[in-house]
Amino acid sequence: MNYRLLVNKTNGLSKDFIPEDLVDTKSEYKDGILISEEVLNAFRKLQNDAKIFNYYFDIESGYRPYDYQEKLYNELVKEKGFNYALRSVAKPGYSEHQTGLAIDICIYKDGKSYIEHDIEELPEIKWLHSNCHKYGFILRYPKDKEEITGYMYEPWHLRYVGDIAPYIYNNDLTLEEYYKTFNL
Ligand code: DAL
Ligand code: ZN
Repeated sequence: MNYRLLVNKTNGLSKDFIPEDLVDTKSEYKDGILISEEVLNAFRKLQNDAKIFNYYFDIESGYRPYDYQEKLYNELVKEKGFNYALRSVAKPGYSEHQTGLAIDICIYKDGKSYIEHDIEELPEIKWLHSNCHKYGFILRYPKDKEEITGYMYEPWHLRYVGDIAPYIYNNDLTLEEYYKTFNL
């Protein structure tokens, strides 16, 4: 698996692309969430280290097959309209979630679970964003980078990129900008 793989609105995956090394995350948020094994190993380290600070992270979405992404996309278009959907959910075949390398984080706190925009103001998120590169993850859709990534700020969506994560973090890049920097 190429952990640097660029998937965005112009770089898609074939409909039948399925990562080979999917494993069950045993997420307590929801049963049956799968991700790439290397990504799960990296996430486990992050998850365990975070517990030292009483921060409890889990995975609320991982690998999403083409058909499931299609369902999500169609539902959001119906619910919020085409323009909103375009900025917040990928069309089938164009989601990083189909690679098995992307995870959406949830946070457990005070007996509740927090996802998506509800995690935005929690102190856990600050820690996550400034430490996840040590485990090979980047915040894939940062604030103020919508023109480059094509998506609104998603504080919950991490992408595993492996050993290039610290470089991307330290230089405040998106994956698109990293590709441009190195003419990839
Ligand atoms: N929310 C991200 C962009 C996705 O659907 O893959
Ligand atoms: Zn996501």
